[in-house]
Amino acid sequence: MAGGMEPILEVRGLRTNFETERGIVRAVDGVDLRVGAGRTVAVVGESGCGKSVLALSILRLVPSPPGRIAGGEILLNGRDLLVLSEEEMRKIRGREISMIFQEPMTSLNPVFRVGEQIAEVFRLHQGMDRRQALAQSTEMLRMVGIPSPEKRVRDYPHQMSGGMRQRVMIAIALACRPRVMLADEPTTALDVTIQAQMIDLIAALRADTGAAVILITHDLGVVAEAAETVAVMYAGQIVEHGSVRDLFSTPLHPYTLGLMNSVPSMKGPAGREAFLKAIPGVVPPLYDLPTGCRFRDRCPDTFPLCRERAPILEEVAPDHLCRCWKYGEIG
Ligand SMILES: Nc1ncnc2c1ncn2[C@@H]1O[C@H](COP(=O)(O)OP(=O)(O)O)[C@@H](O)[C@H]1O
Ligand SMILES: [Mg+2]
Repeated sequence: MAGGMEPILEVRGLRTNFETERGIVRAVDGVDLRVGAGRTVAVVGESGCGKSVLALSILRLVPSPPGRIAGGEILLNGRDLLVLSEEEMRKIRGREISMIFQEPMTSLNPVFRVGEQIAEVFRLHQGMDRRQALAQSTEMLRMVGIPSPEKRVRDYPHQMSGGMRQRVMIAIALACRPRVMLADEPTTALDVTIQAQMIDLIAALRADTGAAVILITHDLGVVAEAAETVAVMYAGQIVEHGSVRDLFSTPLHPYTLGLMNSVPSMKGPAGREAFLKAIPGVVPPLYDLPTGCRFRDRCPDTFPLCRERAPILEEVAPDHLCRCWKYGEIG
């Protein structure tokens, strides 16, 4: 797979299910992914295709029940997280792997000052005393570009704008210089200017700390700017994987093509709206998947085989993988 060098984080054959009244939801169904130091892999796809469940699975935060990691491996520097005890896993979260969530307001505790919330990380993981930890928190706020950090460190979350709260979340996520940073649609709730600042910030911090980044987004503009490698997800599976350059110059999967064609301008809410309109139909229910290819009912380019057999993810060009019979051995 694309990505070069030794991966820090490697996901192999990951499967995460939810047992629901309607049946088993196969939210992540055999995903492979790897990311090296100082690199960013973007995971893109429509809403409901399993991106957040993938991130939660990596941190082992999938609510259980109804969720369950049903198979695969999640290797952090070669060590499988899926066999660790909950206590060992707690040490990994926030220290070695951290996550920036979609909704900053729901992730920050409204009753504590932001400085205390960052300081908590330093106290917990680095054993600093209260004063040291608060001083360090002020430094973190400065690092993520918050003006007058010595004042802002005393703010409560509601006293800050959405963009600032998102910066605080990033400060918390980076307080321990994690080796892996998971960012789940970190810019979705923000306006376009702040989105761009946030992407720059993640890139700068990545360069500074050498963290490996998994950036989840539905915005192809963000991908082009911030990542080297892209995995396109559809209905719980990766359908195309390759370098950003190859994927944008030569998109292979009909779903990826649909995504590309539906983004008139690469940024902003207009692009997002068009994106939702462009590919006819919807993602099939993950508890009742069709036979054969999961994309077949929306695909402009199907063969009889697409109904019968599920395509596999194959290397179609060097370091460029695609899950489509168009490129497979047919007949
Ligand atoms: N707690 C849950 N119980 C049942 N199904 C869930 C739960 N969480 C997520 N899912 C299902 O898993 C699928 C993938 O969801 P998600 O990863 O949130 O998608 P994305 O982040 O790509 O929008 C969806 O079909 C969703 O309904
Ligand atoms: Mg999501």
